[in-house]
Amino acid sequence: MKIGTVNLDNPFILAPLAGYTDLPFRLLCKRYGAGLCVSEMISCHGLFYRQKKTLEMLASVEEERPVSFQLFGAEPDIMAQATTILNDFSPDIIDINMGCPVKKVTKKGAGAAMMAEPKLAEKVMKAVIENASCPVTVKFRTGVTLENETAVEFARMCEQNGASAVIVHGRSWSQGFSGTADWTVVEKVKKAVTIPVIGNGDITSYQMGLDRMAETGCDGIMIGRAAVGNPFIFSAQRMDISLPLLAKAAHEHLLLMQEHLPVDKMLGCIKSHIGRYFKNEKGSAYIRKKVFECKTFDELVDFVLSYASL
Ligand SMILES: Cc1cc2nc3c(=O)[nH]c(=O)nc-3n(C[C@H](O)[C@H](O)[C@H](O)COP(=O)(O)O)c2cc1C
Repeated sequence: MKIGTVNLDNPFILAPLAGYTDLPFRLLCKRYGAGLCVSEMISCHGLFYRQKKTLEMLASVEEERPVSFQLFGAEPDIMAQATTILNDFSPDIIDINMGCPVKKVTKKGAGAAMMAEPKLAEKVMKAVIENASCPVTVKFRTGVTLENETAVEFARMCEQNGASAVIVHGRSWSQGFSGTADWTVVEKVKKAVTIPVIGNGDITSYQMGLDRMAETGCDGIMIGRAAVGNPFIFSAQRMDISLPLLAKAAHEHLLLMQEHLPVDKMLGCIKSHIGRYFKNEKGSAYIRKKVFECKTFDELVDFVLSYASL
């Protein structure tokens, strides 16, 4: 698949997940086959004011390319200026978040609330596209409510304004994360636009992604929750998931965290990431308990490693 000028080796893409898709996890997913990884959502205000925390979210390395940085915000001027700042970090793609249902984001008119204000959404996408030095994608939902499905018009608007691809999560804003994703909407969008369409929602295996591509004709698949603790999902080769394999991936993740994050300050958060690798394994309750009992990062590394060579 090609997004603007950017070629992807694999149409399976890591979704933006706040709190998860930082540089170490993106690198890991890339190593296991993801064709593109999207950062956590980045506030346009954080960029505009050059807040330290926001700038830290823009850490990247050559190995993870292509990378997409996701921006959110509802003010066209600020989004334009944030895009200019983002250009200095050389993203391969900028994604605009028009699908996040979280109150903290929507109460300011951003994320999924943009679908309720399509005229403003158009101004925001224009502001980003006109100022970006790379292709721009837009990620959105089926509409504001289940009944009021506007994804097709919204996608056409993205295409007319120069977006290089759209990502459709098959749920409405009002659904949040409840119910199931409606992939017929992805199919309708695919029929309505000529730019690549990436479908998203509830994919739990590579094969399921291939099936959805065949059913809907969409060009790519974005995977979020099912990738956490399971980077193998991006691999086209079937892998027999075993405890040593999970431990090896968790260990690789830990090493990447050690290389790129202040791990000693983040031990609690790291333990919850690592615990996710073992969630479906026999004896997972015991392993996760042991993970949470680790008092230092090194202890955690040794514990995980002890399962890697079983
Ligand atoms: C913990 C969490 C964080 C998320 N953060 C973002 C985000 O930063 N930007 C965004 O566009 N969507 C975000 N999403 C939505 C996902 O990108 C994705 O659209 C959604 O989870 C459906 O895909 P899935 O079923 O493969 O997880 C988030 C979802 C979860 C569960």
